[in-house]
Amino acid sequence: MAVLEATRAQLAAELTEARRQSEILFSVLRPSYLYERPISERHRVIFYIGHLDAFDYIQICREGLGRQSSEPALDALFQAGIDPDSENLPADLPSDWPSLERTTSYVRQARRAVDHALDDAPVDSVYMALEHRLMHLETLAYMWHNFGHEAKIAPAGYDAILPSRTTPANSWRKVPAGEVTLGKPRDGSFGWDNEYNEHVLDVPAFSIQKYKITNGDYLRFVRDGASLPHFWTEREGRLYYRGMFEEIPLPLDWPVYVTQREAASYAAWAGKALPTEQQFQRAAYGADGRLYPWGNSAPAGDAGNFDFKRWDPESVSETPCGKSAYGVHQLVGNGWEWTSTVFAPFDGFQAAPSYPGYSANFFDGQHYVIKGGSPRTAARLLRRSFRNWFRPEYPYVYGAFRCVES
Ligand code: AVJ
Ligand code: FE
Repeated sequence: MAVLEATRAQLAAELTEARRQSEILFSVLRPSYLYERPISERHRVIFYIGHLDAFDYIQICREGLGRQSSEPALDALFQAGIDPDSENLPADLPSDWPSLERTTSYVRQARRAVDHALDDAPVDSVYMALEHRLMHLETLAYMWHNFGHEAKIAPAGYDAILPSRTTPANSWRKVPAGEVTLGKPRDGSFGWDNEYNEHVLDVPAFSIQKYKITNGDYLRFVRDGASLPHFWTEREGRLYYRGMFEEIPLPLDWPVYVTQREAASYAAWAGKALPTEQQFQRAAYGADGRLYPWGNSAPAGDAGNFDFKRWDPESVSETPCGKSAYGVHQLVGNGWEWTSTVFAPFDGFQAAPSYPGYSANFFDGQHYVIKGGSPRTAARLLRRSFRNWFRPEYPYVYGAFRCVES
């Protein structure tokens, strides 16, 4: 009982902090952009203002406690649509959405109901709400990344990007044949449906690159005919990187953010391959079943660029303390890493009754597993069983990669 109460108090504090972070994010955008759609496949900004608290209300009060909503129409409006298929882009107009006043009053009401329910709701419904909000902190960040700089005001404490150093030389690390654990045991702690069941696999020996592929590495591929990644801009023969709040000359030592297709094409061009999910997992955690690449200590600043430390990546040679037992750097943080594994359920998968489509809607062979984490990934989502996924041509995410060879 005492333990459970401590957990709930801790959870409530984390939810408060996540709400604060989401408020900061919405305040970064100038108000005249709140009805814009920076990414054609996703909703207008106003949807997300309602969505975060609609989701909390639906999971905690409606699904968790069987409460009757006083705003079912707005619950439904703000619940729907996270990944419209690429052939049918959303076609709504700003005038189809409620006013900002109406939306924020809905949010206030939903929050009040959630706050009153926190002590009684099933604890997993609260975890789901918290982690969903944390995931959207990243979704919103990469959406904001696609607004022009005139649309944004950097928050207090923003540090301008430091000039880049030279590209560090990459090299290969050997990972011997051995076992790896995928997934999460059903031990009562919270996990999303796609993390179950835990299982152990044998992975044959392979080599993997010590560092992520950099902009400088990828530039050679571009010079050989590949097209520019979404995050690059070319003007008067010069290349620039579109950062969150400023544009800078292309930083050659930062990880390149690309689509899964671009990553796979680069790997093929180099005569290598993308890692499978199993190989990524083995390179990061394989040696001794550790919780993080660097060991068992909770994610902290010097282990990697994650948990909102920065708005943009940093050099692939930063945070060497975070390297794995096999000497592979930045497997967690500074950019998710694309794999060649199609997103699919593990044996024993069961959808959560309160949110049956979270993963199952994407087991369509059209999404790939991406692992690790980015500068905008919350610490809580850096657990080794957490799986993320996107379409192979989706160019907006903070998706980096490295190569393997067998
Ligand atoms: C797990 C990041 C792919 O953003 O589409 C948010 C997370 N699901 N709301 C997404 C999600 C529902 C999801 N990803
Ligand atoms: Fe969502």
